[in-house]
Amino acid sequence: MSAYHAIEWIDAGADGKPVVRMLDQRRIPQDAATLDYTDYREVASAIREMVIRGAPAIGLAAGYGLALAAWRGPEALPALKLTLHHAADTLKASRPTAVNLAWAVERMMRRLNDASLATTQALRAAALAEARAIDAENLQMDLAIARHAFPLIPSQANIYHHCNTGPLATGGYGTALGVIRYAHEQGKQVHVYVDETRPRLQGARLTAWELQQMGVPFTVVPDGASGHFMRTRRIDLCVVGCDRIAANGDTANKIGTYNLALVARAHGVPFYIAGPTSTVDLATPTGDAIPIEERPAEEVSHLGGVRLTPPGAAVANPAFDVTPAAYLTAIITERGVAYPPFTASLHEFR
Ligand code: MRU
Repeated sequence: MSAYHAIEWIDAGADGKPVVRMLDQRRIPQDAATLDYTDYREVASAIREMVIRGAPAIGLAAGYGLALAAWRGPEALPALKLTLHHAADTLKASRPTAVNLAWAVERMMRRLNDASLATTQALRAAALAEARAIDAENLQMDLAIARHAFPLIPSQANIYHHCNTGPLATGGYGTALGVIRYAHEQGKQVHVYVDETRPRLQGARLTAWELQQMGVPFTVVPDGASGHFMRTRRIDLCVVGCDRIAANGDTANKIGTYNLALVARAHGVPFYIAGPTSTVDLATPTGDAIPIEERPAEEVSHLGGVRLTPPGAAVANPAFDVTPAAYLTAIITERGVAYPPFTASLHEFR
């Protein structure tokens, strides 16, 4: 589906035992180096340090991280079960906002707590099969999202996008970027305004890299440029991803998404969220209850190891914001397009 893999299970690594291989997204586009992990704690660190990122992809990483814990853990079944519980807690705590992480860990543990898995071998096989199922489903869900979105994309469209939502972020075909990719593959003439997405530049580095390989025309723009472009050019729609959708439709996504939605509303531009239903969290009633990750100040105060701010300057670095449901035109999921009122439509899909 793509020439690269955000994450892969390798049956035999350097020591002949299984490893989890990740493309190091911190280095793209300078290179496409991979890292091999042999321990679930390293997988949790890789999620925290954003070797892998994007809500569905970190869920998948947690799935393969648990499979790794199963295959590399103790031979004795009771000790292995204990290891798996530690691994579940460690992986779940690696990043707080994207609900796909907790969703994947809980799904894996439901499978692994099955009493009929009475041998170490059975537990290992079940762990790998479940992680692989999540992997395969991510791809199918992304494709279904792209197909549901297709009628919403004009045959010639200028599309605004924030952060990165391609195969790097899902392990599959991409969500919001999958919507754009599919429209392009089906012959629609799309051009993408790619928000650079400070401070980690997922747009400028990752989305630009992916769109180039997809052959989709694009322009990288500073995050603050959306008002200018919506005022001076024809922008047909915005489509972005999501890290957690509350029961009322309030949506957490990469910091700056809310600003983009406000500008879109001011200019009458439709604003779509694309994401799998594993991102819908009906247990979280509104966006106010979504935990927002605060990341290290150095991500804002420094760029490429060079200090940008004067020493001692106060810095805040919320990694996500919440766009209130009232600013969303629709939420595109693999089960269909949910329109307001989201409290009703999301309940139907989840
Ligand atoms: O901090 P990141 O890079 O993990 O944030 C990613 C995003 O906000 C994406 O838009 C979201 O996870 C959707 S990925 C299909």
